[in-house]
Order: sequence, then structure tokens, then C-alpha cells
Amino acid sequence: MKQHLFMLIAGSMLSLVVQSQTTPAVTLKEKYASSFTMGVAISPRALRTPERQLIETQFSGVTAENAMKMGPIHPRADRFNWAPADSVVAFATARNMAVRGHTLVWHSQTPDWLFKGEGDQQVIKEELLKRIKAHIDSVVGRYKGRVFAWDVVNEAISDQKEEFYRPSLFYQICGEEYIQKAFEWAHAADPSALLFYNDYNETDPVKRGKIIKMVNELRAKGVPIHGIGLQAHWSIFSPSAEVLDQTLSDFSKTGLTLHITELDVSVYKKEGRRERIPSDSLTAYTPEREAIQTEMYQRAFAAFRKYREFIRSVTFWNISDRYSWLDNFPIRGRKDHPLLFDAALQPKKSFGAVMDFKF
Ligand code: GLA
Repeated sequence: MKQHLFMLIAGSMLSLVVQSQTTPAVTLKEKYASSFTMGVAISPRALRTPERQLIETQFSGVTAENAMKMGPIHPRADRFNWAPADSVVAFATARNMAVRGHTLVWHSQTPDWLFKGEGDQQVIKEELLKRIKAHIDSVVGRYKGRVFAWDVVNEAISDQKEEFYRPSLFYQICGEEYIQKAFEWAHAADPSALLFYNDYNETDPVKRGKIIKMVNELRAKGVPIHGIGLQAHWSIFSPSAEVLDQTLSDFSKTGLTLHITELDVSVYKKEGRRERIPSDSLTAYTPEREAIQTEMYQRAFAAFRKYREFIRSVTFWNISDRYSWLDNFPIRGRKDHPLLFDAALQPKKSFGAVMDFKF
């Protein structure tokens, strides 16, 4: 009997521990409710996995990781693949979660037909602009009133110091005009949606200067642009607290709304794509790496809170370390651990660091 009682007590204590691990007392979206929409990038597949519970409990917004990109959603000139994006939007709207639309014009993950003209020729400018407009009309129109913010143009600025615009096919064929037009068409398709320019390497002063210059010029021309998206694909090695503060300070001076759109903190240096597979010792998720990552998350959110007058939304790029786009990228065979929840979907120390503050 005594033994039975003991087991009962031990059992219920254990279930308490397990419960408190799976369900942190206060969730991300609750803690930040007065400051930011807390978003997460998801796939329709994630909605059929145990990660779904984390999406529902921790986050107040979603971005489709891939489902709204031009290649996946508009695979042929006359064919749209709506079902995956529809399922993400339906899931979110049924739960009163905000939806960020990502993305309308981007040089990557484009469908083959987009740049093809007559015969073997490349499409001419007028036709390409027509296609971009038709794409924007259809996609923004379909989700009108349900997507509160769109990444209209993604990554149009060059990473090369001497070069202003990225020499993408959009740029080569249309010149910079496609950027302005894309914003105008998106605004016409849903006048209530907030329209963003989104980019990475935003902590690099030269690239940041170019982003700000472009955005200011667009505004001076009266182009409907409402915000800047900072992708924030960071690592445990950068940015420093000073660089981060300078970055947010510079962007906040534009007076535009800021969204942190794709946050993750890789536990590796940001290598070039051709790097060889490093040895195991370099890829281990050591307690030291975890500690620095925890500090980096602490630093990032302290900075976001400091600039909360300008920042309205923070989105994590993926849900937990169970899956991240950084697994195998840029180095095949290497696992990354960039998020707040581990592969068992439990909150990491970095979760604690993000939650440990008082306003
Ligand atoms: C860029 C894009 C995102 C995503 C990431 C990698 O940041 O904006 O949509 O593709 O690369 O997953």
C-alpha cells in the first residue's frame, strides 16, 4: 500500500515535471503581447506534426515558409497551386493569428516560365512586368483582408559593396522600375495590407545604407511602402550589441514600421556556400555554443524591446530545432540548432533568456 502510494506520488510529480516542460507557464505570445506579434515560419506539413501544438500555443502569427513563393504557388503561367498556402491561411485565421505574406517578387525560387519569351528568347521587359502584375493581382487578391503584411520585394539589393542592385533577371530585364511597380500593384490589389521591403545582411553598414537609400527614394516618389523587413538570419558570432543597436537605430530613423521577419541564430559561422564539411568537433552543439546562443538571443530581444516603438512583429524562421532550413545549408550533412525550442520541442535556455525581463 505504502509502496503504491509512493509510486502514485512519484508518478504525479513526474507528470508535473513533464507537463511543466512541455507547457511553459507563460508563452512567448503572452509575454510579448503588448509589443510584438510573435510569428513563426511554417509549412502545411508542420500542421500535421507535433510541432503544431507549439505553433498554436507560443505564436500569434505565421508566415508560409515556402507556400506563397512564386515558384510553388504559380508553377505555370496559367496554373496556381493554392492548396498549400490556403491551408496555412485557413489555419491562422481560424485561430485569430496574423499572417505575413512572403513573398511576391524574389530572384530565387522563381518558376521556369516566368523569364521565358518567344522561342528560346528571354522575355522582354513589357511582358515580364505584365506577368509580375498578373501574379501580384492574383496572389494578393486571393488573400485580401487576410494577409496583414506582404514582403513585396525580397533581396533586391546587392551584397557587393560597389554594386547597388542585385543583378537578378528582374533587374537585368526591367531595371529598377520593377520594384516601384510591384509596390504599386500590391497596394492596388489590397489597399489595407502593409507593404514591406525585406532583406538580409541588414547589419552590414554598407548594405543597410543602400536599403535605407532605396526605401527613402521610393517614399519620396510616393510609392506605397510601409515597412522594412529585417530577415535577421544571425549567428552566435554576430551581430555584436553595438552593431545591433546601430542597425535598429538607423532603420528606425526612416520612420517606417520594422518587422524582424526571419529570425534564427545559427550555432556556426556564416560560411560561404562552397565550404567543405567540417569535422565533428566543429559541428557539435556544445554547452559553450549553447551559452553564447542564449546570450545572443538575450541581446537580440533586449534590443528589440528597446526599439519597440518601431518594431511591430518578430518572426522566427522555423518552429524548433527538429527542423530548420539551416540543417544541411550551406553545408550538407551538418545539423544546426538555431531556434528557441529543441528537437524534442522543449524550451531551450535561449527561450528562458527571451522571456526573462520586465518592462
Ligand atoms: C531567404 C528567404 C526566405 C527563405 C530563407 C531560407 O531569407 O527570404 O524565404 O528562403 O532565405 O529559408
